[in-house]
Amino acid sequence: MMKVLIATDKPFAAEAVKGIRKEIENAGMETVLLEKYADKSQLLEAVGEVEALIIRSDIVDAEVLKAAKKLKIVVRAGAGYDNIDLDAATARGVVVMNTPGQNSNAVAELVFGLMIYAARNFYDGSSGCELKGKKLGIHAYGNVGRNVARIAKGFGMDVYAYDAYYPTESIEKDGVKALASASELYETCPYVSVHIPATAETKNSINYALASKMPPKAILVNTARKEVIQEADLFKIMEERSDFKYVTDIALQNDAEMKEKFSKRYFSTPKKIGAQTAEANNNAGIAAAKQIIGFLRDGNREFQVNK
Ligand code: 3PG
Repeated sequence: MMKVLIATDKPFAAEAVKGIRKEIENAGMETVLLEKYADKSQLLEAVGEVEALIIRSDIVDAEVLKAAKKLKIVVRAGAGYDNIDLDAATARGVVVMNTPGQNSNAVAELVFGLMIYAARNFYDGSSGCELKGKKLGIHAYGNVGRNVARIAKGFGMDVYAYDAYYPTESIEKDGVKALASASELYETCPYVSVHIPATAETKNSINYALASKMPPKAILVNTARKEVIQEADLFKIMEERSDFKYVTDIALQNDAEMKEKFSKRYFSTPKKIGAQTAEANNNAGIAAAKQIIGFLRDGNREFQVNK
């Protein structure tokens, strides 16, 4: 019987695990569950026995792939797959997929949780700002960015977006103003929400030149990846501008220092929680199980990212 390992250091909601198990077991396969593992050695041991693997932000590097002797497919239940060594997977003939769109509403909703928290001065009782009428810049118009646009319109925000790959006409069809460059987006919008993936091209790309251009009373929200921010530059901007706030779902490397120095203007969630809802866990987890079954049974490679 083929085995599917669910290896999640940050577990799915119990209800989602139940749903994933049901999919796998109805397909005549066995589920193995490894949650909150304290050590990588537990993952190395568990992957040795399975044909398929479901993960979240868990690291699947060359060592894990080497230990996964029978592995045919790994599905990242989520959007970003920067935690998987794609070259090592390809070299071993392992198919890698993600589940695009399945957790994007959850992340988009958190953007507004963070944005309001910042606009209302971290709920310290002082007079804050409203979102209505403010210019919001969406940096990358993918699944999360599009959900952010939809919700922002409900708040009455003036919505802008920049995406190097997404067609301008498709952005404008949503009633969102498409800008020609990231630089224009940061220059135009005092509120910016970051949705670029962490790639060789985007790492450290949000730097001094870009972020320091934000208009007065700037709020920069990051629910994407910390790697896209040039941390030393952000620190410099925060030092220079007392009107600049940074709120994030992914703690920076220098989180403790930022918290100490900018306690009224820097906030990070204790753990990445953007996709941590019962609905998102359910959607992404079940999609992952279905994609595994579709691949192992019928060779369906839709959503493969290491082609
Ligand atoms: C994603 O890339 O899908 C999100 O960052 C969510 O990550 P998580 O599954 O670790 O919460």
